Amino acid sequence: MKPSNPFVTKGYHSAEYFCDRKDETKILLDAIKNNRDVVLYGRRKQGKSALIKHVFTQLDNKYITIWVDLLPTESFNDLLNQTASALLRAFEEDTSFGKKIWSGIKKLRPTINYDELSGQPNITFDLNNEKIQLSTFSDILGLISSISKNVVIAFDEFQQIINYPEESTEAYLRTLIQSITNLNVIFSGSDQHLLLQMFDNINRPFYNFGQFVKLTHINPEVYADFIFKHFQANKKKIEKDEIYDLLHWCNYRTYNVQLVCNRLYSFSSKKISNEDIIAVKTTMLKEREDVNYMLRRIISKGQWNVIEAFAKEGKIYEPYGREFMEKYGFTNSSTIRRAVKSCIEKGLIYQGMSEGRDYFEIDDILLTRWIQVTMI
Ligand SMILES: Nc1ncnc2c1ncn2[C@@H]1O[C@H](COP(=O)(O)OP(=O)(O)O)[C@@H](O)[C@H]1O
Ligand SMILES: [Mg+2]
Repeated sequence: MKPSNPFVTKGYHSAEYFCDRKDETKILLDAIKNNRDVVLYGRRKQGKSALIKHVFTQLDNKYITIWVDLLPTESFNDLLNQTASALLRAFEEDTSFGKKIWSGIKKLRPTINYDELSGQPNITFDLNNEKIQLSTFSDILGLISSISKNVVIAFDEFQQIINYPEESTEAYLRTLIQSITNLNVIFSGSDQHLLLQMFDNINRPFYNFGQFVKLTHINPEVYADFIFKHFQANKKKIEKDEIYDLLHWCNYRTYNVQLVCNRLYSFSSKKISNEDIIAVKTTMLKEREDVNYMLRRIISKGQWNVIEAFAKEGKIYEPYGREFMEKYGFTNSSTIRRAVKSCIEKGLIYQGMSEGRDYFEIDDILLTRWIQVTMI
Protein backbone atom coordinates (compact mmCIF):
# COMPACT_ATOMS: atom_id res chain seq x y z
CA MET A 1 0.00 0.00 0.00
CA LYS A 2 1.21 3.47 -0.88
CA PRO A 3 2.00 5.63 2.15
CA SER A 4 -0.23 8.70 2.47
CA ASN A 5 2.90 10.85 2.56
CA PRO A 6 6.04 9.85 0.60
CA PHE A 7 8.33 11.14 3.36
CA VAL A 8 8.31 8.24 5.75
CA THR A 9 9.16 9.15 9.33
CA LYS A 10 8.97 5.72 10.90
CA GLY A 11 10.75 2.54 9.92
CA TYR A 12 11.07 1.42 6.32
CA HIS A 13 8.35 1.35 3.69
CA SER A 14 9.84 0.27 0.37
CA ALA A 15 12.64 1.08 -2.06
CA GLU A 16 10.58 3.85 -3.70
CA TYR A 17 10.53 5.88 -0.49
CA PHE A 18 14.08 5.08 0.51
CA CYS A 19 16.68 7.53 -0.69
CA ASP A 20 20.00 6.41 -2.09
CA ARG A 21 22.32 4.37 0.18
CA LYS A 22 23.33 2.51 -2.97
CA ASP A 23 26.98 2.13 -1.99
CA GLU A 24 26.20 0.99 1.55
CA THR A 25 23.55 -1.44 0.28
CA LYS A 26 26.08 -2.92 -2.12
CA ILE A 27 28.72 -3.26 0.59
CA LEU A 28 26.29 -4.98 2.97
CA LEU A 29 24.92 -7.31 0.30
CA ASP A 30 28.43 -8.21 -0.78
CA ALA A 31 29.41 -8.97 2.81
CA ILE A 32 26.33 -11.14 3.38
CA LYS A 33 26.75 -13.06 0.13
CA ASN A 34 30.38 -13.75 0.96
CA ASN A 35 29.72 -14.79 4.53
CA ARG A 36 31.33 -11.83 6.25
CA ASP A 37 29.93 -10.28 9.41
CA VAL A 38 29.47 -6.53 9.53
CA VAL A 39 29.65 -3.80 12.15
CA LEU A 40 27.44 -0.94 10.95
CA TYR A 41 27.81 2.26 12.90
CA GLY A 42 26.76 5.86 12.64
CA ARG A 43 24.97 8.42 14.70
CA ARG A 44 21.36 8.13 15.79
CA LYS A 45 18.58 8.75 13.27
CA GLN A 46 20.91 8.69 10.32
CA GLY A 47 19.25 5.61 8.83
CA LYS A 48 20.98 2.46 10.06
CA SER A 49 17.86 0.46 10.91
CA ALA A 50 16.13 1.54 7.69
CA LEU A 51 19.23 0.55 5.70
CA ILE A 52 19.27 -2.92 7.25
CA LYS A 53 15.60 -3.39 6.40
CA HIS A 54 16.25 -2.18 2.87
CA VAL A 55 19.13 -4.61 2.46
CA PHE A 56 16.93 -7.43 3.74
CA THR A 57 14.38 -6.75 1.01
CA GLN A 58 17.13 -7.10 -1.61
CA LEU A 59 18.00 -10.67 -0.64
CA ASP A 60 16.35 -13.57 -2.44
CA ASN A 61 14.54 -16.43 -0.74
CA LYS A 62 17.75 -18.36 -0.12
CA TYR A 63 18.10 -16.06 2.86
CA ILE A 64 16.07 -15.76 6.02
CA THR A 65 16.47 -12.36 7.63
CA ILE A 66 15.96 -11.60 11.29
CA TRP A 67 16.02 -8.19 12.94
CA VAL A 68 16.62 -8.08 16.68
CA ASP A 69 16.16 -4.73 18.37
CA LEU A 70 18.39 -4.61 21.43
CA LEU A 71 17.55 -1.04 22.44
CA PRO A 72 15.04 -2.10 25.12
CA THR A 73 17.27 -4.87 26.50
CA GLU A 74 19.06 -4.59 29.84
CA SER A 75 20.16 -8.12 30.56
CA PHE A 76 21.04 -11.40 28.94
CA ASN A 77 17.54 -12.70 29.64
CA ASP A 78 16.12 -9.75 27.65
CA LEU A 79 18.50 -10.57 24.79
CA LEU A 80 17.28 -14.14 24.90
CA ASN A 81 13.62 -13.09 24.76
CA GLN A 82 14.13 -10.57 21.97
CA THR A 83 16.12 -13.01 19.87
CA ALA A 84 13.67 -15.88 20.35
CA SER A 85 10.72 -13.60 19.50
CA ALA A 86 12.48 -12.27 16.40
CA LEU A 87 13.27 -15.81 15.28
CA LEU A 88 9.64 -16.92 15.58
CA ARG A 89 8.47 -13.85 13.67
CA ALA A 90 10.87 -14.62 10.84
CA PHE A 91 9.48 -18.09 10.23
CA GLU A 92 5.92 -19.02 9.29
CA GLU A 93 4.89 -21.89 11.53
CA ASP A 94 3.39 -23.90 8.67
CA THR A 95 6.48 -24.03 6.44
CA SER A 96 8.94 -26.91 6.69
CA PHE A 97 11.69 -24.67 8.09
CA GLY A 98 9.23 -22.88 10.32
CA LYS A 99 8.04 -26.13 11.86
CA LYS A 100 11.57 -26.98 12.98
CA ILE A 101 12.14 -23.57 14.53
CA TRP A 102 8.74 -23.29 16.20
CA SER A 103 8.74 -26.78 17.66
CA GLY A 104 12.40 -26.38 18.71
CA ILE A 105 11.57 -23.19 20.60
CA LYS A 106 8.32 -24.53 22.08
CA LYS A 107 10.23 -27.51 23.49
CA LEU A 108 12.14 -25.05 25.66
CA ARG A 109 8.81 -24.12 27.32
CA PRO A 110 8.64 -20.35 26.96
CA THR A 111 5.47 -18.30 27.43
CA ILE A 112 4.22 -17.18 24.03
CA ASN A 113 1.91 -14.17 23.80
CA TYR A 114 0.52 -12.59 20.67
CA ASP A 115 0.54 -8.84 20.20
CA GLU A 116 -3.09 -7.70 20.05
CA LEU A 117 -2.56 -5.27 17.20
CA SER A 118 0.01 -6.93 14.98
CA GLY A 119 -0.66 -10.56 15.91
CA GLN A 120 3.12 -11.03 16.23
CA PRO A 121 4.42 -13.58 18.75
CA ASN A 122 6.29 -12.42 21.85
CA ILE A 123 8.34 -14.90 23.80
CA THR A 124 9.20 -14.79 27.47
CA PHE A 125 11.64 -17.09 29.18
CA ASP A 126 11.75 -16.37 32.85
CA LEU A 127 15.07 -17.93 33.73
CA ASN A 128 17.05 -16.59 36.61
CA ASN A 129 19.91 -19.01 36.41
CA GLU A 130 22.64 -17.68 34.13
CA LYS A 131 23.79 -21.14 33.03
CA ILE A 132 20.30 -22.12 31.95
CA GLN A 133 19.89 -18.80 30.12
CA LEU A 134 23.10 -19.44 28.21
CA SER A 135 22.20 -23.00 27.30
CA THR A 136 18.69 -21.92 26.22
CA PHE A 137 20.20 -19.22 24.01
CA SER A 138 22.60 -21.79 22.48
CA ASP A 139 19.69 -24.14 21.84
CA ILE A 140 17.73 -21.39 20.12
CA LEU A 141 20.52 -20.11 17.88
CA GLY A 142 21.54 -23.71 17.33
CA LEU A 143 18.19 -24.31 15.61
CA ILE A 144 19.55 -22.21 12.75
CA SER A 145 22.15 -24.89 11.99
CA SER A 146 19.35 -27.39 11.50
CA ILE A 147 17.88 -25.65 8.47
CA SER A 148 19.31 -25.52 4.97
CA LYS A 149 19.00 -21.78 4.45
CA ASN A 150 21.34 -18.87 4.99
CA VAL A 151 20.28 -16.82 7.95
CA VAL A 152 21.17 -13.18 8.52
CA ILE A 153 20.60 -11.70 11.96
CA ALA A 154 20.88 -7.98 12.55
CA PHE A 155 21.50 -7.16 16.19
CA ASP A 156 20.47 -3.51 16.23
CA GLU A 157 21.81 -1.17 18.96
CA PHE A 158 24.29 -3.87 19.86
CA GLN A 159 26.30 -1.63 22.22
CA GLN A 160 23.51 -2.27 24.74
CA ILE A 161 25.16 -5.54 25.71
CA ILE A 162 27.99 -3.62 27.36
CA ASN A 163 25.47 -2.57 30.02
CA TYR A 164 24.27 -6.09 30.82
CA PRO A 165 25.19 -7.23 34.33
CA GLU A 166 26.43 -10.57 32.94
CA GLU A 167 30.06 -9.98 32.08
CA SER A 168 30.62 -12.99 29.89
CA THR A 169 28.00 -12.07 27.26
CA GLU A 170 30.47 -10.83 24.65
CA ALA A 171 32.81 -13.81 24.82
CA TYR A 172 29.93 -16.23 24.86
CA LEU A 173 28.18 -14.64 21.87
CA ARG A 174 31.32 -14.55 19.80
CA THR A 175 31.98 -18.25 20.27
CA LEU A 176 28.38 -19.17 19.61
CA ILE A 177 27.99 -17.05 16.48
CA GLN A 178 31.20 -18.38 15.02
CA SER A 179 30.06 -21.95 15.46
CA ILE A 180 26.98 -21.54 13.23
CA THR A 181 28.20 -21.70 9.67
CA ASN A 182 24.98 -20.71 7.88
CA LEU A 183 24.64 -17.57 10.00
CA ASN A 184 25.77 -14.06 9.18
CA VAL A 185 25.50 -11.20 11.60
CA ILE A 186 25.15 -7.45 11.24
CA PHE A 187 25.97 -5.65 14.46
CA SER A 188 24.62 -2.17 14.30
CA GLY A 189 24.78 0.68 16.74
CA SER A 190 24.70 4.39 17.34
CA ASP A 191 27.29 4.74 19.99
CA GLN A 192 30.42 4.97 17.91
CA HIS A 193 32.76 5.03 20.88
CA LEU A 194 31.24 2.03 22.61
CA LEU A 195 31.10 0.04 19.41
CA LEU A 196 34.67 0.79 18.48
CA GLN A 197 35.68 -0.05 22.04
CA MET A 198 34.07 -3.47 21.58
CA PHE A 199 35.26 -4.27 18.10
CA ASP A 200 38.56 -2.45 17.88
CA ASN A 201 40.08 -3.37 21.22
CA ILE A 202 42.52 -6.25 21.14
CA ASN A 203 41.52 -7.29 24.67
CA ARG A 204 37.83 -7.77 23.88
CA PRO A 205 36.20 -10.90 22.44
CA PHE A 206 34.81 -9.15 19.36
CA TYR A 207 38.17 -7.70 18.33
CA ASN A 208 38.59 -7.88 14.57
CA PHE A 209 35.28 -9.66 14.20
CA GLY A 210 33.54 -7.94 11.34
CA GLN A 211 33.90 -5.52 8.53
CA PHE A 212 33.28 -1.92 9.64
CA VAL A 213 30.72 0.09 7.67
CA LYS A 214 30.20 3.69 8.70
CA LEU A 215 26.94 5.39 7.84
CA THR A 216 27.15 9.16 7.41
CA HIS A 217 24.64 11.51 5.84
CA ILE A 218 23.05 11.00 2.45
CA ASN A 219 24.72 12.90 -0.38
CA PRO A 220 22.85 16.28 -0.43
CA GLU A 221 22.51 16.36 -4.23
CA VAL A 222 20.99 12.90 -4.32
CA TYR A 223 18.70 13.72 -1.39
CA ALA A 224 17.62 17.00 -3.00
CA ASP A 225 16.73 15.13 -6.19
CA PHE A 226 14.75 12.54 -4.24
CA ILE A 227 12.79 15.25 -2.41
CA PHE A 228 12.18 17.27 -5.57
CA LYS A 229 10.87 14.21 -7.44
CA HIS A 230 8.47 13.18 -4.71
CA PHE A 231 6.96 16.65 -4.63
CA GLN A 232 6.80 16.71 -8.41
CA ALA A 233 5.09 13.31 -8.55
CA ASN A 234 2.14 14.89 -6.80
CA LYS A 235 2.31 18.05 -8.92
CA LYS A 236 3.81 20.06 -6.09
CA LYS A 237 6.65 22.43 -6.74
CA ILE A 238 9.55 23.23 -4.45
CA GLU A 239 12.71 25.08 -5.48
CA LYS A 240 15.99 23.17 -5.38
CA ASP A 241 17.64 26.05 -3.48
CA GLU A 242 14.99 25.80 -0.78
CA ILE A 243 15.68 22.07 -0.49
CA TYR A 244 19.41 22.67 -0.03
CA ASP A 245 18.61 25.23 2.63
CA LEU A 246 16.39 22.69 4.41
CA LEU A 247 19.03 19.99 4.28
CA HIS A 248 21.48 22.38 5.86
CA TRP A 249 18.95 23.48 8.50
CA CYS A 250 18.48 19.79 9.42
CA ASN A 251 22.24 19.29 9.58
CA TYR A 252 21.74 16.58 6.93
CA ARG A 253 20.21 14.30 9.57
CA THR A 254 17.94 11.87 7.74
CA TYR A 255 15.20 11.76 10.36
CA ASN A 256 14.92 15.55 10.58
CA VAL A 257 14.94 15.95 6.81
CA GLN A 258 12.13 13.40 6.51
CA LEU A 259 10.11 15.18 9.21
CA VAL A 260 10.42 18.61 7.63
CA CYS A 261 9.59 17.30 4.16
CA ASN A 262 6.67 15.30 5.52
CA ARG A 263 5.18 18.49 6.98
CA LEU A 264 5.81 20.60 3.92
CA TYR A 265 4.30 17.95 1.70
CA SER A 266 1.12 17.94 3.76
CA PHE A 267 0.49 21.62 2.90
CA SER A 268 -2.31 21.98 0.41
CA SER A 269 -0.50 24.57 -1.72
CA LYS A 270 0.84 23.46 -5.07
CA LYS A 271 3.89 25.66 -4.80
CA ILE A 272 5.86 25.54 -1.58
CA SER A 273 6.82 29.12 -0.78
CA ASN A 274 9.54 30.47 1.41
CA GLU A 275 6.83 31.45 3.91
CA ASP A 276 5.65 27.82 4.07
CA ILE A 277 9.18 26.73 4.91
CA ILE A 278 9.57 29.38 7.57
CA ALA A 279 6.21 28.31 9.02
CA VAL A 280 7.30 24.67 9.29
CA LYS A 281 10.63 25.58 10.90
CA THR A 282 8.95 27.93 13.37
CA THR A 283 6.29 25.38 14.33
CA MET A 284 8.84 22.65 14.85
CA LEU A 285 10.95 24.85 17.10
CA LYS A 286 7.90 26.11 18.98
CA GLU A 287 6.75 22.54 19.67
CA ARG A 288 10.07 21.85 21.33
CA GLU A 289 10.15 24.96 23.44
CA ASP A 290 8.83 23.47 26.71
CA VAL A 291 11.17 20.48 26.46
CA ASN A 292 14.14 22.76 25.90
CA TYR A 293 13.29 24.99 28.85
CA MET A 294 12.85 21.90 30.97
CA LEU A 295 16.26 20.63 29.88
CA ARG A 296 17.76 23.95 30.92
CA ARG A 297 16.19 23.51 34.35
CA ILE A 298 17.37 19.96 34.94
CA ILE A 299 21.00 20.16 33.85
CA SER A 300 23.58 22.22 35.72
CA LYS A 301 24.27 25.84 34.85
CA GLY A 302 27.77 24.89 33.67
CA GLN A 303 26.39 22.22 31.36
CA TRP A 304 23.78 24.59 29.93
CA ASN A 305 26.47 27.22 29.27
CA VAL A 306 28.38 24.63 27.29
CA ILE A 307 25.24 23.61 25.39
CA GLU A 308 24.50 27.22 24.54
CA ALA A 309 28.05 27.90 23.34
CA PHE A 310 28.10 24.68 21.31
CA ALA A 311 24.77 25.55 19.70
CA LYS A 312 26.06 28.93 18.63
CA GLU A 313 29.33 27.50 17.34
CA GLY A 314 27.98 24.44 15.45
CA LYS A 315 30.77 21.92 14.89
CA ILE A 316 33.66 22.28 17.35
CA TYR A 317 37.08 20.73 16.98
CA GLU A 318 38.80 22.27 19.98
CA PRO A 319 36.36 23.01 22.78
CA TYR A 320 39.21 23.37 25.26
CA GLY A 321 41.27 25.64 23.06
CA ARG A 322 41.87 29.27 24.01
CA GLU A 323 40.01 30.72 21.06
CA PHE A 324 36.72 28.96 21.79
CA MET A 325 36.99 29.57 25.53
CA GLU A 326 37.65 33.27 25.15
CA LYS A 327 34.87 33.71 22.61
CA TYR A 328 32.28 32.30 25.02
CA GLY A 329 33.72 33.65 28.26
CA PHE A 330 34.93 30.36 29.73
CA THR A 331 37.91 30.63 32.02
CA ASN A 332 38.56 27.14 33.26
CA SER A 333 39.17 24.35 30.76
CA SER A 334 38.75 21.54 33.27
CA THR A 335 35.25 22.80 34.13
CA ILE A 336 34.32 22.68 30.43
CA ARG A 337 35.90 19.26 30.11
CA ARG A 338 33.70 17.94 32.92
CA ALA A 339 30.56 19.55 31.53
CA VAL A 340 31.24 18.22 28.01
CA LYS A 341 31.89 14.72 29.36
CA SER A 342 28.65 14.68 31.25
CA CYS A 343 26.68 16.08 28.28
CA ILE A 344 28.16 13.30 26.11
CA GLU A 345 27.07 10.70 28.66
CA LYS A 346 23.58 12.17 28.65
CA GLY A 347 23.48 11.98 24.85
CA LEU A 348 23.19 15.76 24.54
CA ILE A 349 26.54 16.22 22.85
CA TYR A 350 27.79 13.96 20.12
CA GLN A 351 31.47 13.23 19.73
CA GLY A 352 32.29 12.18 16.22
CA MET A 353 35.26 11.81 13.99
CA SER A 354 35.77 13.30 10.60
CA GLU A 355 38.96 12.87 8.60
CA GLY A 356 40.76 11.53 11.63
CA ARG A 357 39.88 14.48 13.85
CA ASP A 358 37.53 14.39 16.81
CA TYR A 359 34.75 16.93 16.78
CA PHE A 360 31.82 17.76 19.01
CA GLU A 361 28.35 19.06 18.33
CA ILE A 362 24.94 19.09 19.97
CA ASP A 363 23.23 15.88 19.05
CA ASP A 364 19.78 17.30 18.47
CA ILE A 365 19.75 19.82 15.65
CA LEU A 366 16.37 21.19 16.76
CA LEU A 367 17.90 22.16 20.10
CA THR A 368 20.75 23.85 18.25
CA ARG A 369 18.42 25.77 15.95
CA TRP A 370 16.17 26.77 18.86
CA ILE A 371 19.09 28.17 20.85
CA GLN A 372 20.36 29.95 17.74
CA VAL A 373 17.09 31.84 17.31
CA THR A 374 16.11 32.23 20.96
CA MET A 375 19.26 32.88 22.99
CA ILE A 376 20.80 35.73 21.10
N1 LIG B 1 17.62 6.42 2.98
C1 LIG B 1 16.51 6.90 3.55
N2 LIG B 1 15.55 7.52 2.82
C2 LIG B 1 14.44 8.02 3.39
N3 LIG B 1 14.19 7.94 4.71
C3 LIG B 1 15.09 7.33 5.50
C4 LIG B 1 16.29 6.78 4.96
N4 LIG B 1 17.01 6.24 5.97
C5 LIG B 1 16.28 6.45 7.10
N5 LIG B 1 15.14 7.10 6.81
C6 LIG B 1 14.15 7.53 7.79
O1 LIG B 1 14.84 8.27 8.79
C7 LIG B 1 14.41 7.92 10.09
C8 LIG B 1 15.58 7.48 10.94
O2 LIG B 1 16.11 6.30 10.41
P1 LIG B 1 16.55 5.05 11.31
O3 LIG B 1 16.86 3.96 10.36
O4 LIG B 1 15.57 4.81 12.38
O5 LIG B 1 17.89 5.64 11.95
P2 LIG B 1 18.91 4.95 12.96
O6 LIG B 1 18.63 3.48 12.99
O7 LIG B 1 20.26 5.28 12.39
O8 LIG B 1 18.69 5.62 14.28
C9 LIG B 1 13.34 6.84 9.90
O9 LIG B 1 12.10 7.48 10.02
C10 LIG B 1 13.51 6.35 8.49
O10 LIG B 1 12.25 6.08 7.93
MG1 LIG C 1 17.99 2.35 14.59
